[in-house]
This record gives sequence, C-alpha cells and structure tokens, in this order.
Amino acid sequence: MSVVLLHAAQSLTKKNFFLCSMIVFFLSSGWVIGVFPIAGATEEYALEVPLGLDEDSLVIPKDNPLTKEKVELGKLLFFDKRLSRNNTIACASCHMPALAFTDGQSVSTGIHRQQGGRSAPSAINRVFSSAQFWDGRAVTLEEQSVAPFVNPVEHGFADHNELIAKLSTIEGYKPLFEQAFGTRTITIGLVGKAIASFERTLLSGNSAYDQFGGEGKDDSLSARAQNGLRLFLVKAQCLRCHFGNNFTDENFHNLGIDWNTDHVDLGRYHVTKNPKDLGAFKTPTLREISRTAPYMHNGRFGTLAEVVDFYNQGGIKNPYLDPVIKPLNLTDQEKEDLVEFLQSLSGEGWQVEPPRKFPN
Ligand code: HEC
Ligand code: HEC
Repeated sequence: MSVVLLHAAQSLTKKNFFLCSMIVFFLSSGWVIGVFPIAGATEEYALEVPLGLDEDSLVIPKDNPLTKEKVELGKLLFFDKRLSRNNTIACASCHMPALAFTDGQSVSTGIHRQQGGRSAPSAINRVFSSAQFWDGRAVTLEEQSVAPFVNPVEHGFADHNELIAKLSTIEGYKPLFEQAFGTRTITIGLVGKAIASFERTLLSGNSAYDQFGGEGKDDSLSARAQNGLRLFLVKAQCLRCHFGNNFTDENFHNLGIDWNTDHVDLGRYHVTKNPKDLGAFKTPTLREISRTAPYMHNGRFGTLAEVVDFYNQGGIKNPYLDPVIKPLNLTDQEKEDLVEFLQSLSGEGWQVEPPRKFPN
C-alpha cells in the first residue's frame, strides 16, 4: 500500500493522485455501494454528485433509499427548533449552512447554553462515510442523527419517547411522514431515516482543486496552491491520512492534541477500550476547510496556519502519537503554500436555503 501511495506522491499530476488514492481508498475500506430502488409511490431523489466526488462510494443503506419526500421531511426536522425540549435548539443551531454546517465555536453550545466537550464537525459529505462522530461511535447516519436529541447538552430530551410524543402533537408532520414512509405513526427510527436522507444530500465538490487537472483547467490553482498540493502529497505527507475523494482514510489517529495539558480527551478509546486507540480521532474531511474554523476535535486552532505549524512541529509527543506524525521542516513559504492549497478545497453541493415555514 505504501508503494502505491509513494507512486501517487511522486507523479505529481492531479489525475494520478486521484486514481491511486482511490485505489488505496477502496483497498482500505469496505464501503457499500448505494442502490436506489423506488419505494411505493415515493419519488427517487436524484443526487447530483459534483465534480471530484466519487459516485460509486456513496454509502446509502438498502433499507433507506433516498427519496424526495424523505429528504424534504429530513430537512424540516433538521432545522426545526421544536425538536428540542425548550424549542431553542435545532440540528442547524450547531450545523449552520452559512458555516458549511459547523458553528464556528471551539466547543458547541446546546440547550440552556450548556457547552459540550467537542467541536461540531461539518455535516457535509457524510454520505461517503461509515464512521460518524469524532470517535466513530455511530456507524450509520440513521444512528448518528437521533443521538443529539437525548444528549443533555444538545436537544435535551430525557429519552426518545419524549421527543416522539412532542413531535406527534404537531399535526402537520403526520401527512409528511405518511408521504415519506406510508404511515402517520411517527417513530424515532423514521425520524433518523429522514434526517439521514437529508444529510446525504449535503455534498462538497467541484472546488478549484477538482477543476485542476480533472477538467484540464490547469490555471484553476495558483502556482502557490499547486506547490501546496505537491507538499501535501510528498514532503508534508498529509496524503497518508487525508486521501480519496473526501480526503480521509476514515481511520483514527493520535496527533497529540492536548497531551501537553492535564485534560486529554481519549477519543476512539472510549468506544473500543483498546489502548492503541488512546487519544485517537477520526481523520476529518478537508473539504470546505477554510469555512469550518476552529479546527480539531476541540477547536484548538483558530486558523489553518496554526494547524500547519502544529503538523510542522510533529504534533505533540505522547506514547500513542501516530508514527506518521513527524517534524516536517517546512519553510515559511512552504507553510503558506500548503494553506493556499487547503483553501482551494471550497466547493459546492451543500449550499441549501433553510425552510421558510414549518408544519403546524
Ligand atoms: C449543541 C450543538 C449540536 C447540536 C444541537 C447537534 N450537533 Fe451534531 N455535532 C455536534 C458536535 C459537538 C459533534 C461532534 C461530537 C463528537 O464527535 O463527539 C457533532 C457531530 C455530528 C455529526 C458527525 C459528523 C462527523 O464528521 O462525524 C453529524 C452528521 C451531526 N452532528 C449531525 C447532527 C444532527 C442531524 C443533529 C440534530 C438531530 C445535530 N447534529 C445536532 C454538535 C451539535
Ligand atoms: C496520521 C494521520 C494524519 C496525517 C499524516 C495528517 N492528518 Fe490532518 N488530521 C488527522 C486527524 C486524526 C485529525 C483530527 C485530530 C484531532 O482532532 O485530534 C486531523 C485534522 C486535520 C485538520 C482539522 C480538520 C477539522 O475539521 O478540524 C486539518 C486542517 C488537517 N488535519 C490538515 C492536515 C494537513 C495539512 C496535513 C499535512 C501537513 C495533515 N493534516 C496530516 C490525521 C492526519
């Protein structure tokens, strides 16, 4: 595998990088290929996959095919603040469209202005992933999307029954569930399926980087961003973890964040209890990265320059530091070029308007 990577890294053209990283990507993950059967009278949702994203790696469970009705219902549920105990918090409170579905905070603030311990990741390109949350504790988006409702510092319900009882008092939702699922009886499973369907439509591709090489538009990246891309692939070794169409190996690594303090989040270890996962977090996508500051699982860095400095110094030493993380000896110019490349990853496919009105 490292031979393939090295080859990708040495042949500096975008196409080769893409091809090789896709091969590695498939070898290293068991991604499910989506199928789209049409259920009942519902209408298939035609997902438009922007340039640079891989249609064959969409993760759409067979029992929850994308339909227009589910996506529209999921969108309402995602933005509706009544889906919190005191009508103040929606998913969109922490995953705001204007900030590429993040909240701009180091750690999120939920119900009663309580703060959690982690930074809200973007909800874009989740359709390419089978590990949700920074520690991968949910596999599917169906599972992920119902967890915040019963998180005491997010939507604040005591349990899912309380949410469903409240939602069932809003008569206007019943016909929408009927159209989407053929039943007026709302269950938490259906809420999860609808929200997951909406999340799967939030994509980011067709960035300057995707246009570079991909469409033969070699001027879509500045000379400095092109140098940044080369550094990303070779000298800075970013590609070792951030690869494939979504710039992630979907794996967990310890970079040492906070290991020089007395409050370390043990990350993936909380899920597996395996000591090798101590302090490891999921490699996040780098798409839309210039819109989603602050960075890392606890929002420790405010700018991409700080992130690059952190990698340049070799992360923070600790017994579980990923062996790939080493001092990089980048010059100041190289650091700036790398940041310029990262800024070329802003694209389209996720810009949606919040609903104008909600069911009553
Ligand atoms: C109070 C703020 C807050 C609210 C409300 C909230 N989230 Fe999140 N969301 C977060 C934080 C913080 C994380 C990271 C938590 C972790 O990884 O432990 C997260 C993680 C996620 C992820 C995982 C992304 C990834 O890269 O793995 C998705 C998807 C997501 N939320 C969607 C939702 C949905 C859907 C809702 C509504 C049902 C919601 N969120 C409500 C703050 C919030
Ligand atoms: C060993 C795997 C690995 C390598 C190599 C690596 N990363 Fe990361 N990257 C990660 C992980 C894991 C995280 C999240 C870590 C955390 O929050 O504790 C991350 C986080 C980031 C973030 C913040 C993303 C966000 O949404 O907050 C940026 C930006 C980033 N990496 C860029 C880079 C660049 C640039 C390089 C090369 C200099 C690089 N990475 C090399 C695994 C890696």
